[in-house]
Amino acid sequence: MIAGVEPQVEVRAREMRQIVTTQNGGVDVLEVREAPDPRPGKGDVIIRVRAAGLNFADILARQGLYPDGPRKPCVMGYEVSGIVDSVGEGVNPDLVGKSVIAMTRFGGQSEFVTIKATQMFDKPQSLTFEQAAALPVNYLTAYVLLIVMGSLHEGESILMHNAGGGVGLAALDIARKLGAVTYGTASPSKHEFLKERGLDFPIDYRNQDWLSVLKELTNGRGVELVIDPIGGAHWKKSYAALRHTGRLGMFGVSSASATGLKGKLKLLKAAAQMPRFHPLGLFNKNRGVFGLNLGHLWHEPEKIAPWMRDIVRGVEEGWIRPYVDRTFTFAEAGDAHAYIEARRNIGKVVLVP
Ligand SMILES: NC(=O)c1ccc[n+]([C@@H]2O[C@H](COP(=O)([O-])OP(=O)(O)OC[C@H]3O[C@@H](n4cnc5c(N)ncnc54)[C@H](OP(=O)(O)O)[C@@H]3O)[C@@H](O)[C@H]2O)c1
Repeated sequence: MIAGVEPQVEVRAREMRQIVTTQNGGVDVLEVREAPDPRPGKGDVIIRVRAAGLNFADILARQGLYPDGPRKPCVMGYEVSGIVDSVGEGVNPDLVGKSVIAMTRFGGQSEFVTIKATQMFDKPQSLTFEQAAALPVNYLTAYVLLIVMGSLHEGESILMHNAGGGVGLAALDIARKLGAVTYGTASPSKHEFLKERGLDFPIDYRNQDWLSVLKELTNGRGVELVIDPIGGAHWKKSYAALRHTGRLGMFGVSSASATGLKGKLKLLKAAAQMPRFHPLGLFNKNRGVFGLNLGHLWHEPEKIAPWMRDIVRGVEEGWIRPYVDRTFTFAEAGDAHAYIEARRNIGKVVLVP
């Protein structure tokens, strides 16, 4: 040891905890396991995770219904909030200690994650770490659906399916900011909450034919934008809900959710029942259709950055209001999955180490 120089003290645990999806199956396939502490390589940033978002895709991946998911055993998780713990060569060391939010291409449900600086944004100071972890996936998805691809304008109307979920509440915030009239389908237990959040017309799609209700509410005209994460035959019905110049945004297949063979059969059924849109039909009815898969936008960080900055600005201005329904510890990950599968969540579910 050189005289006068203190030995470097390793303050970080050598093993970090992660939620591992060990194989396809029910919630019992989720385990908290230890893994070696990551070291930053050139250009890397390591974040000590304070909260990680749980998304519907994590559930579909556990059920074996998510083709984009990593091979199992794997650590899922697309988004985190936390504190920069260390940086690799070529990254500004002043970032250490900064509170941030980040997009992670899997692996977020872990005590530490390794990312590139372009995946990271300042955490809005007014938000808790739990609220901040609810921002990236839900709000970017809603932002692209409504603003970038759906082009929703003031005075237009939107129908949001799963309006009480994470993406649904995010879409509601953005639709209200744009000055649109809002219709939303959700389980009836969520309607009161949704009205308080500003939804103009909640529709109970579990016990009613939502299309008839919507047509009645809109004098038979329908709406300018429908965002539909349910998939399969449901997309055909959502297409029928469009008014002239209407757009349908398709972005998920919630209807397939189930464990084991049942889920595989539901996914096959959804695939078989997907509508085909003929150009002449779109042309003559003045309609547009589009799809969104945020997970396929990783190669476009220069697009995502200004969207995310708008969202963070929205937090500061008060119209982006991430809502965390429940926080579960890593050890309770199975309960967190079961909570969403039972359709009990309103807004976001987050996991904390
Ligand atoms: N393409 C993309 O880039 C992208 C990005 C993010 C999310 N998504 C998709 O958007 C949807 C919502 O995601 P989220 O993370 O915000 O989840 P979420 O909406 O917070 O949670 C699920 C909710 O969906 C509703 N739901 C409808 N069908 C269901 C089913 N068969 N099983 C369980 N719940 C069902 C339930 O609410 P109600 O019963 O009240 O409706 C439930 O509470 C998912 O399909 C997800 O895959 C896609």
